[in-house]
Amino acid sequence: MPTPNPDPRHIRSHWHEARSGAHYAGGRWRNARAAGRDPSRVARALAHHAPNLGGQLVLDAPSGVGRLREAIEERGARYVGLDASPSMLAEGSGGGFVQGSAWALPFPSRTFGAVVCCRLLHHVPDEGSRAALIGELLRVSTGPVVLSFWDSASWHAWRRRKGVRRARHADSRTALHRGELERLVRAAGAEPLEYFSSLRFVSQQTILIFRAKASCQD
Ligand SMILES: C[S@@+](CC[C@H](N)C(=O)[O-])C[C@H]1O[C@@H](n2cnc3c(N)ncnc32)[C@H](O)[C@@H]1O
Repeated sequence: MPTPNPDPRHIRSHWHEARSGAHYAGGRWRNARAAGRDPSRVARALAHHAPNLGGQLVLDAPSGVGRLREAIEERGARYVGLDASPSMLAEGSGGGFVQGSAWALPFPSRTFGAVVCCRLLHHVPDEGSRAALIGELLRVSTGPVVLSFWDSASWHAWRRRKGVRRARHADSRTALHRGELERLVRAAGAEPLEYFSSLRFVSQQTILIFRAKASCQD
């Protein structure tokens, strides 16, 4: 397995640009429906797999500008957002934001009742870094980890593979096979629980919920 490279600048430096936060908070989404998809998937995932989050801390890493905050707080949880980019964090409102790396979370083990990681994994270029990220998210959670990824079994991913849909960015964003992701999750001592996507085979962005096996948390 290649050595993980947890330096966020090697993932995409453009998030550190001053205008990134304002763009993400403003014109990033095509319309309100598109903007609402991730928050509603995360809310559903938490409702099913962490129904008793009242008063517990929930980590959103990377938080970006904190657009999942409401979906997390409506579960009665206390929100903590972590992101590497000061530009993204500057757009966050309501407090509870921390700057840091998702590969070296500045929190003790088992701090959070649940952890959400949305729209980062498809930017992670190598398996070692994906495994390290999954391990770090699990380390700080006593409950489920809600992880979004690009599903290789989707219309969008197929079009990319065939060159029908061209990447907007020069970097190579990666769609994963569900089996590949499950293998990483199991290798980290966790159990895959459920997938959430708006439309199977259509939505590229999909969520996998997993949690540490009881014996791995002792
Ligand atoms: C596509 S955005 C998604 C943000 C948020 N999860 C959302 O869905 O709105 C990816 C985010 O990952 C952050 N990021 C990149 N590398 C990181 C790292 N090593 N640690 C923490 N955050 C990182 C970027 O700054 C950016 O805000």
